[in-house]
Formats: sequence, structure tokens, C-alpha cells
Amino acid sequence: MKRPDREQKESPEAEKAPEATCAEQCPSGSGSVEVGGRCDAAKFELTVTDILEALPFYVMLVDEHHHILQANGAVRGYLGLEPHDIVGEYCPKVIHGLDEPWYACPLEEAVERGGEPVEREAFDEKSARWVRSAVYPLASRSQDGGRIYFHTVSDITDRKEAEEQLLTSRAQLRELSQHLESVREEERTKMAREIHDELGQSLTALKFDLSWLSGRFPEELDRLSERTRSMCELIDGAIQTVKRLSAELRPGVLDDLGLVDAIHWQAQEFSRRTEIKTTSTAFPEDFSLDRERSTALFRICQEALTNVVRHAEATSVKIRVTKTSNRVILKISDNGIGIHEDRILDPRAFGLIGMRERAAFLGGEAMISGVVGKGTVLAVRIPLPRREESDAEDIDCR
Ligand SMILES: Nc1ncnc2c1ncn2[C@@H]1O[C@H](COP(=O)(O)OP(=O)(O)OP(=O)(O)O)[C@@H](O)[C@H]1O
Ligand SMILES: [Mg+2]
Repeated sequence: MKRPDREQKESPEAEKAPEATCAEQCPSGSGSVEVGGRCDAAKFELTVTDILEALPFYVMLVDEHHHILQANGAVRGYLGLEPHDIVGEYCPKVIHGLDEPWYACPLEEAVERGGEPVEREAFDEKSARWVRSAVYPLASRSQDGGRIYFHTVSDITDRKEAEEQLLTSRAQLRELSQHLESVREEERTKMAREIHDELGQSLTALKFDLSWLSGRFPEELDRLSERTRSMCELIDGAIQTVKRLSAELRPGVLDDLGLVDAIHWQAQEFSRRTEIKTTSTAFPEDFSLDRERSTALFRICQEALTNVVRHAEATSVKIRVTKTSNRVILKISDNGIGIHEDRILDPRAFGLIGMRERAAFLGGEAMISGVVGKGTVLAVRIPLPRREESDAEDIDCR
């Protein structure tokens, strides 16, 4: 199929159409449409044929049995045929070289549905182009009493290709962002472990040696004992910092005990740090989940709580995590000022975008909504793999 919209622009009939509409030149008669013109004294008229000829895409009038009653210049130009070669012919044969309706022809469905308009987008193998094919029933009837349809076909290949490119590049971006996230997660896990094990253990050993040493100073060296005691206190502080840093990077509880315990731990920490009343519940009370989903939900929860303390002005937060046979749901609600609609859709809201992306990558979704003065709710739903797969994962990773 050639490109109808481009060809028809050059059609001489199309260019002639406006001139032929003047009332003086085209006296009214049956089959014409009256249109208000620029010169009000001279209302001008267009015939249906004029309009069809001017359209830059394929237009035909067809009966219920796919017979062509009329075809505009775009169709004739594409086929290289005269009207008398087309009128009365079987449309699938003329257009597609087929003895039966084209697989995506919307006419069959329109007739089946008692004369409803039907529009479809489909790939035409013959021309290797995407087309939008539509049929609209007219009030007129053909000689056998059947409906007549206004049938349009336009080339939408450019749009389809652009859509496809957009989808591909969006999928690539999602893959890339997920890849970067997992690299970041691995680095955090490694750093958390090293800080905790290497630094933490060295500090503990140092503290132990120092206590041993201070116990052996002769009594007259009071000042030395005092100094070692304060050194021990400093080491205690450093050990606490190491623990905090390592937990912030990646809490061991997430890997050791699983998502539910990690969320309870996070809720307690958050409440202690911010003095915002925080409750966390899980249903069932405890359940296991694979590492990928656990990490995603935990990080989403972390970002949501950071948002609460930074933006919500809330006094309480509720976290609920639920696992059913086919999905896991995380819901976080606060009683703060309520997120504004504009912020939810803001393309620079990278925290919110990150939550949606994490969920989307796992086939789920994250929805956020707010009511002014009442609070904000974040609901994340992530589907679970089929039973056998999820059992296998449950055993492996907790
Ligand atoms: N719980 C909430 N209550 C009220 N407003 C919120 C809440 N969560 C987010 N918002 C609003 O949505 C905006 C976007 O949040 P988002 O997390 O994407 O960005 P941010 O927190 O401002 O910055 P960052 O990129 O560091 O996360 C916030 O700036 C804030 O205005
Ligand atoms: Mg944020």
C-alpha cells in the first residue's frame, strides 16, 4: 500500500474541490451538503463526492457484503484504476487480492453488531504498513436493504514506529535503572558487611584490649586509668556509629530474618528517631519472600517514611504488609497534610518515580493519593510468581 495521505495532496481533484463549492457554480440539488461560506450572500454547497475526493486517505462506500459503491481519488490513485473498474467489485479482492475478507477488516464485526462503527489498527502484510481501518454505518441503505458503510483506511506506520521506539526505549531505561539499583544494592550490602564485620570487630577487640590494659595499671597511675576509660567510651560511641551506618546501608535483619521483621524494625527505628507514632502490622504475622521483592518493598517503605518525616507534618503512620496467594501488598498511610495532586504527577518527583519504577519492574504498581488535611496513602502491589516458583524461592531466600 502506498502512502495515501501524501499522494492525495497532489491530486488535481482535491485542489479543485473548494472552487466547485461556490453556490453560483454548483446549484443545489439532491446529494449535496450545504455549508456556510465566507461570503454570506453566497452560501456554497459541497457534494459528498467533493468531500470524499478532498480527503487525503482512502475512503470508500461499501455495502454489507464488501462491495465497493464508491471510492475516492486516494484509493483510485493507489490501485491505478478508474472508477468503473472499482465500483461493484469485491473490496478484499481489489485491495488485498483476497477471496475472503482481510483478517483485520472491521466490516464483519460492524455488521454482526447490528451496524455499529468499528475501528481497528492492524498491520497489512501486503504493503508492510500499519493502517487504521474504520467503518461507520450510514443512514442510507443499499438496493438489497442492507446498510451502507463509510469505510476509511489511513496509513499510521510513522505513529506506530514512533510508539514502538518509545516503548523500546522506555523498557531499556527501566532495565538500566533496575540494573543500577541492583548494583547499588550489592555495593551497599558489601559495604554494610565490611563496615560491620571488619570495623566493628576491630573496635570491639580494641575496646577489650584497652579494658584489659587499664585493669593492669598500678594504682598511682590514676590519670592513665581515667584516660583509658574515656577511650573506651569513645570506642563504644564508634561501635554504635558503625552499627547505625551498616544498618542504614542495608539492615542485616532484611537478609537474616526477612521483610516482615525488617519492616517492624524500620517502624521502631523511625518512631524512635522522629517521635512520630508508628505502627506496623503484617498479615499473615510472618511470611517469607524472595530477596528481589523484599528489597524493593523495603526500599519503597524507607523512601515513603523519609517523605513522611520531610513533607507530611504527620503525627502518626501506619504500615501494613499483606501477602496473599498471588501478590504482596504494602500500604503506608499517614495523617499529615496530604500530598497534592500536582506533586504526584510532577516529572521531577524522583522519589515517587523510583517507587513506581521499582514496583513496575516486578510487574506491580505503586499508587499514591492524598486528601488535603487528612493524610497520604501509598499502596504498592506486587504480583507473586506461580506457586511452584514461589515455593522454590521461599526455601532459598528468606
Ligand atoms: N507523605 C507525604 N505527605 C505530603 N506530601 C508528600 C508526601 N510524600 C511526598 N510528598 C510530596 O511529593 C513531593 C515528591 O516527593 P519525592 O519523594 O518524589 O521527592 P522529594 O522527597 O521532594 O525529594 P527526594 O528526591 O529526595 O525524594 C515532595 O516534595 C512532597 O511535596
Ligand atoms: Mg522523597
